Amino acid sequence: MIAMSKRILIVDDEKDIVEAIANILTLEGYAILKAYRGYEAVKTAVNEKPDLVILDVKMPIMDGMDTLHELRQKGFKKPVIIISGHGDIKTAVEAVRLGAFDFLEKPLSRNGLLIAVQNAVKTTAEQEPTEPGSRNEIIGRDPAFIQCLRVAERIAPTTAPVLITGDTGTGKEVVARYIHEYSKRKKNFVEVNCAAIPDELIESELFGHMKGSFTGAIADKTGKFVAADGGTLFLDEIGDMSLKTQAKVLRAIQEKIIIPIGSNTPISVNVRIISATNKNLAQEIEENRFREDLFYRLNVIELRMPSLSERKSDIPLMADHFATISGKENGLKQAQFTDDAKTLLAERDYPGNVRELKNLVERIVVISQKSTISMEDVKMILDNRFDIPGEDFQEKADLPAPPSPSETDFFKINSLKEFRDRIERLFIIEKLKQNGFNISRTAEIMETPRSNLYKKLEQYDIDVKELEAYYGKEI
Ligand SMILES: Nc1ncnc2c1ncn2[C@@H]1O[C@H](COP(=O)(O)OP(=O)(O)OP(=O)(O)O)[C@@H](O)[C@H]1O
Ligand SMILES: [Mg+2]
Repeated sequence: MIAMSKRILIVDDEKDIVEAIANILTLEGYAILKAYRGYEAVKTAVNEKPDLVILDVKMPIMDGMDTLHELRQKGFKKPVIIISGHGDIKTAVEAVRLGAFDFLEKPLSRNGLLIAVQNAVKTTAEQEPTEPGSRNEIIGRDPAFIQCLRVAERIAPTTAPVLITGDTGTGKEVVARYIHEYSKRKKNFVEVNCAAIPDELIESELFGHMKGSFTGAIADKTGKFVAADGGTLFLDEIGDMSLKTQAKVLRAIQEKIIIPIGSNTPISVNVRIISATNKNLAQEIEENRFREDLFYRLNVIELRMPSLSERKSDIPLMADHFATISGKENGLKQAQFTDDAKTLLAERDYPGNVRELKNLVERIVVISQKSTISMEDVKMILDNRFDIPGEDFQEKADLPAPPSPSETDFFKINSLKEFRDRIERLFIIEKLKQNGFNISRTAEIMETPRSNLYKKLEQYDIDVKELEAYYGKEI
């Protein structure tokens, strides 16, 4: 269980603290290195390459933040845990933002220290940070959000059930996946949307069934509990599960055994349950729509996702991130908001939270088709906007399809030249996509000389490499 050979460098100007930490960690089988000054720590880290550094924030001459910075400058990539005294939690959070793995508050507790250390040395090898600029990157620096992520990381390696609550679009699913990524459970992340599956089917979905066990059961089916064995089962929209199914799920969780429909052989399963809801479960219990006993089973750890209005400082950051992503999708070299455009975005309310902001930004980028989006551009789009449909609204069928935002917007353009330019730009991007981003072939199909196509790419700020990286080669 304990990695005997892991080496930990402890850095604090107070000798007593270094000794106290060293004693605890030595007993656990770690090898200890010590330093009492920042510069000394940097030297030791570079020469000895420890697996982990535990670093005090407050030190004379070169404080913890400077030391952290210097360590990263010198290419030291192993995790660093920050120790902060009373009152410099802000600094600690900032340190985490700058790449520290975790922070601990003084006075240190033995358990807190050990959990943080175990998590840190364990994840070093496994942790593959999501590539910046990718769709899956998690954005947020606001302390309210960072706190959530830190809790998520800390509880990730345990098997404790987690209930994620929070308004619609706050990132509940994002965090559920994050917990799975940070857990040691490298098996599947299996998702069940309890609201989307009709009640007659949910039991078979969760527990599986045997061929012939009911009309329509033409083959054996593996249930989600079994599919998630050794991994994580994400029960999304748990508040929408019927009472009947709740009873069965409770039993499965309590007994760690499931029985597929039509079978009499119990299967034992080891799953970590993460559930999510935007309903107020206390009220659902009050109104007899949710079982209290199941609630206590699921809610061992509660993570409440802050709504966007509680973390307004993240709005500009997210606006940039979502603009970059949709810019890439639209073949723009870069899509960026000016500062006042971001300020304008940050002043709005987002009842649909991150999802709404993301949809809005995508819409602005698509409509404006510009590399630099000004406050005026944003205003123009906000002014003629009535409603930003969320993902959930899109399937509303049988109504005639509304014109796409870019279409309506095209008719707001007065100048013929601008109109032509925008259409031409979209056309070129589409043809590039259709021809696997092969410029010669695209030019040929478009019946224009290659040199002309190059000129247009330049003129319209289209970055073919980016487009190709984004969409991939396949046609
Ligand atoms: N911190 C974040 N960084 C980047 N993208 C995010 C973040 N939080 C949410 N998103 C994005 O916002 C959208 C909504 O997130 P998600 O589906 O996780 O929300 P939810 O809380 O599960 O919503 P609902 O209650 O409607 O199910 C997704 O497209 C997701 O990628
Ligand atoms: Mg969700």
